[in-house]
Amino acid sequence: RKSSASITRFPLIPVKGVPLRNNIAENWDSIWTFRPDPSDILIATYPKAGTTWAQEIIDLLLHNGDAEACKRAPTAVRSPFLETCSPPATISGVERLKKMDPPRMIKTHLPIQLVPPAFWENKCKTIYVARNAKDNLVSYYYFDCMNQAQPEPGPWEGYVHKFMRGELAWGSWYDHVKGYWTEKEKRNILYIFYEDMKQNPRREIERIMRYLDLSVSDEVISRIVELTSFKNMKENPMANYSHVPTSFFDNSVCSFMRKGEVGDWTNHFTPEQSKMFDEDYEKQMKDVNIPFKTLI
Ligand code: A3P
Repeated sequence: RKSSASITRFPLIPVKGVPLRNNIAENWDSIWTFRPDPSDILIATYPKAGTTWAQEIIDLLLHNGDAEACKRAPTAVRSPFLETCSPPATISGVERLKKMDPPRMIKTHLPIQLVPPAFWENKCKTIYVARNAKDNLVSYYYFDCMNQAQPEPGPWEGYVHKFMRGELAWGSWYDHVKGYWTEKEKRNILYIFYEDMKQNPRREIERIMRYLDLSVSDEVISRIVELTSFKNMKENPMANYSHVPTSFFDNSVCSFMRKGEVGDWTNHFTPEQSKMFDEDYEKQMKDVNIPFKTLI
C-alpha cells in the first residue's frame, strides 16, 4: 500500500538501546530536556496497553464528568504525546506542550529510564497502565498493520518473535512493565492494569481519582464509567482517532478502537505459539511477580 508523501513507515533507531522511530531519535535532546510543571500528570504505557482509555478517564475526572468539556478537542490535543514528532504528528509533542498552560496530561510510551528526568525532579503524578503481554502483542500487531508511521509488522509468526526480542518500537514490553513496577513505590507511580479496568472500571476510576487528590460524586463516577465504555469511546469522535487521515491510520485494515477485550489473544496464538511464548515469558519475568491476568 502506497502511503502519502508526508507519512512513511519510519525505521527504528536505538536511543540508549531502546528502538524508537528515527525522527524521535533525531530529536531526542528536545525530548530528554523537556521540563514539565510539578502540576502536570504523566500517563505512561507500553503502546496499546490502554493509553487512550486512561487519558479519557483522567480528563473526565479533571472535568467532573463533563462530557461536553471533554469533547473540546481530540485526545492528542487534550493530552499531548510527549515524544511524537512531525511527521506523522502535525506538530511535535514538545512544541504542543509549550503552547499549553499546566496542568497538562502528558502521554508517553517511553520506558522509565528514558522519561525526561525533570518529571521525577518535579515529582509529577504518574499513572502507568499495563496490559497482559499476549493481548498487548495482538493489539500492537493490528496497530502496526494500520499505522503507516510504524515499521511494517511483517507476518504474525515473525511479529511474535520480534515482540519477545524487544525489537518493536519503544522496545521490550518485558523491560517496560518491569521498569515502572520496580520503581512504583519510590517514585509514587500509580500502576494499574487494563484487565482490572475491564473487570471493575468503577474501582479503578476511583483509585485514579484518589491518586490525583480529586473528589467527585458517586453519580459522576457512574457517568465516567459509562462515558469511557469501549462502545461509547468507539463512537466518540474526540476519543476514537477518527480525525486522523487514512494516509496515516489506514481504517481499511482496522479502526483504532478495534476490539477492546481481554483474551483476544486466544483467537490469534496457536497452541504451539502460546506454549513457546509462555516458556519465554517465565524466563523474562522470573525476577518479578506482576499479577497480570490473561483472561477475566
Ligand atoms: P484492541 O486493539 O485490543 O482493541 P492505546 O490507547 O494504548 O493505543 O490502546 C489501544 C487499545 O485499547 C485497543 O485495544 C483499543 O481498542 C483499546 N481501548 C481503547 N479504549 C478502550 C475502552 N474504553 N475500553 C476497552 N478498551 C479500550
